[in-house]
Amino acid sequence: MDANTKPMGVGIIGCGNISEIYCKNLKTFEHLNLVACADIDESRALARAAQFDIAARSVADLLASDDIELVVNLTIPDAHAKVSRAILKAGKHVYSEKPLATKRRDAKKILKTAKKRRLRVGGAPDTFLGGAWQTIRRLLDDGAIGQPVAATAFMLGHGPETWHPNPDFFYQPGAGPLFDMGPYYLTALINLFGSVKRVASLARASFPERIAQDGHAIAVNTPTHVAGSLEFANGALATLITSFDVWHSQLPRIEIYGSEGSILAPDPNWFGGDIFLRGENDKEWRNVPIEFPYTENMRGLGVADMARGIRENRPHRASGEMTYHVVDVMRALLKSAEEEEQVKLKSECERPALLATIQNTN
Ligand SMILES: NC(=O)c1ccc[n+]([C@@H]2O[C@H](COP(=O)([O-])OP(=O)(O)OC[C@H]3O[C@@H](n4cnc5c(N)ncnc54)[C@H](O)[C@@H]3O)[C@@H](O)[C@H]2O)c1
Repeated sequence: MDANTKPMGVGIIGCGNISEIYCKNLKTFEHLNLVACADIDESRALARAAQFDIAARSVADLLASDDIELVVNLTIPDAHAKVSRAILKAGKHVYSEKPLATKRRDAKKILKTAKKRRLRVGGAPDTFLGGAWQTIRRLLDDGAIGQPVAATAFMLGHGPETWHPNPDFFYQPGAGPLFDMGPYYLTALINLFGSVKRVASLARASFPERIAQDGHAIAVNTPTHVAGSLEFANGALATLITSFDVWHSQLPRIEIYGSEGSILAPDPNWFGGDIFLRGENDKEWRNVPIEFPYTENMRGLGVADMARGIRENRPHRASGEMTYHVVDVMRALLKSAEEEEQVKLKSECERPALLATIQNTN
């Protein structure tokens, strides 16, 4: 087996809530070899390792491991930048959970470190690679609703403390609904429309304190309702509202409007879901069948595509440039609210290629 066909050794740092589905899915790809996991809390690493029959190592040992080429960073958002740079400095490719970093300058440093060392950066979300979102991308590219005009995107809820066992980080700077859930919505829209050119927004924190399941109080230190407007490089305008302050809502997740019709899209937090399309002369919405694979919870698909991209010497889809652009857009939305002005984006990214070309990923 030569270096180009050898399964890629993968390690995970951060063995919390989301690591279970990553371990489960990464183990299904034949071109990946999930070797080990690590966590600052050793008991979490041991538990996850036992569950998936992999090694539990200390973070330092995992970074020094010769049998690992790519490390998936599943730590909390505040630790992403430090851990991702340590991974790169250890000579390994990094795939980070969202956001790439909570601060723009830290996100930039990650890309710079990778470039210097000729390593790759990739990052969540990878839900845009799911069957539903790939189908919508193809509909748009095929002109099924004409030229893109606009989109609305809504993530309205009352926060994660009702279900998440460790919810404190959601209410600190660098999290909140925009940094926590915004990446799904922004990545879905960027995959369809391309880069964001400028934004404007208003934001507030409606409740100063949240109560976790175990009864402890969490001080809210970040906006929890952000109402934003975005202009994309292709001219389309989007309205994006992310909120942890809303008890009930019936707004759709995402609608996409074109010069000749509209698409009703599913929740971008998931890989599948119903798609409806209605052309300008249609009397009713029609359900559009999903034409691409991966409609279940396939978190880790972006890692699989990245590993294959590295071996095939082609760009990977959930790219560092795109995750950086998403951080840049989110920072710009918060800045716009703070400074009461429109903010122009300095970064841009390529629209990733349709997934159809790597149907043999699995
Ligand atoms: N939970 C979800 O449903 C979900 C879904 C999608 C994405 N995510 C993202 O995944 C990431 C992790 O979320 P989670 O819900 O699993 O959080 P979590 O708090 O359950 O787990 C995070 C783990 O990282 C460990 N950790 C923290 N700092 C570390 C460091 N410096 N070195 C090593 N380990 C460290 C913690 O000990 C903990 O075990 C976040 O970025 C989150 O936004 C979570």
